[in-house]
Amino acid sequence: MKILVTGGAGYIGSITAAELVQAGHEVIVFDNLYQGHTAAVPPEATFVEGDLADPRAVQQLFAAHPGIDGIMHFASYTLVGESMQQPLKYLRDNLVNAANLLEQAIAHDVRRFILSSTANLFDDPERMPIDEAERIVPGSPYGESKFFIERVLHWFERLYGLRYACLRYFNACGDTPDRGEDHDPETHLIPLVLQVALDQRPHITVFGDDYPTPDGTCVRDYIHVVDLAQAHILAMEALDRLGSRTYNLGNGEGFSVLEVIQTARRVTGHPIPHVIGPRRPGDPAVLIASSETIRCELGWQPRYPSLEDIMRSAWDWHRQHPHGYGGR
Ligand SMILES: NC(=O)c1ccc[n+]([C@@H]2O[C@H](COP(=O)([O-])OP(=O)(O)OC[C@H]3O[C@@H](n4cnc5c(N)ncnc54)[C@H](O)[C@@H]3O)[C@@H](O)[C@H]2O)c1
Repeated sequence: MKILVTGGAGYIGSITAAELVQAGHEVIVFDNLYQGHTAAVPPEATFVEGDLADPRAVQQLFAAHPGIDGIMHFASYTLVGESMQQPLKYLRDNLVNAANLLEQAIAHDVRRFILSSTANLFDDPERMPIDEAERIVPGSPYGESKFFIERVLHWFERLYGLRYACLRYFNACGDTPDRGEDHDPETHLIPLVLQVALDQRPHITVFGDDYPTPDGTCVRDYIHVVDLAQAHILAMEALDRLGSRTYNLGNGEGFSVLEVIQTARRVTGHPIPHVIGPRRPGDPAVLIASSETIRCELGWQPRYPSLEDIMRSAWDWHRQHPHGYGGR
């Protein structure tokens, strides 16, 4: 298939683009390099630099690349904390950018769409692990913006016959030998812990150790980025057969912040000092995904469920690329 990957110069998008190329698909990457890196784009993909906020650029993209079979939409503002400070950057811009994309998709008869959605829809879960029937309580304007886009997709299916999958990821992590996580600012636990191992930070701060969890620190579900990428490919390939779908995507196991730090100590051999800070407002104690639905319907299986393997893959990349892609 000919697949348009928005945000394909970013962390998850570039690794998915590389997996798509490997699976024999033709890939077009569209990215404005706000957080992306040209070096992350697979050389076999066509790279178009452009901004989804610019309707003309999006129109030109589709005009220059006729016959797109499906879209994977990764491009987004992604920071929960920032969205609490600048809500319209999320509630307006994430929505408008997706709308610009969808408008042209329909105009050019593209009928398959995969959305990077988020576990930030589940701020107050009633059951654990969290399945797709859980009530939606967005935890931030970021999460709400993803829910807005999910609702647009619902209407575009009814009105235009678009088939879509919303993939609600929990914590993406891990790297491949060629591509890795390089955000500025970095907010994710594993790369931050590894920056301590690289002596780029003096310590890691643990936000709260008095949660109702076995060691008092927050428990989260970590899913390897290659497993996420594979889920996208399976979901895209199954759309014609199964119709629109929503899947929660995690590896089904929770690890506490202290377990992550201890695993990093084992893998890197570095003492990685940590300090306990106050809780962050709005951080739920435990977030673990049930991925039973995607396992049953698509036969998806995580290849890297072990935290040790995830950490090793991330450490290999960060050790080889201590300054990321070096583009900033
Ligand atoms: N990383 C996670 O743990 C996680 C969890 C849940 C959901 N997600 C979602 O997955 C997607 C990818 O996340 P990521 O961690 O790879 O983020 P990322 O920032 O590394 O990648 C996003 C890419 O989109 C590009 N982009 C942003 N705005 C754009 C625009 N207006 N036009 C064109 N390109 C634009 C950026 O330059 C970047 O390359 C995002 O939609 C995010 O919300 C990520």
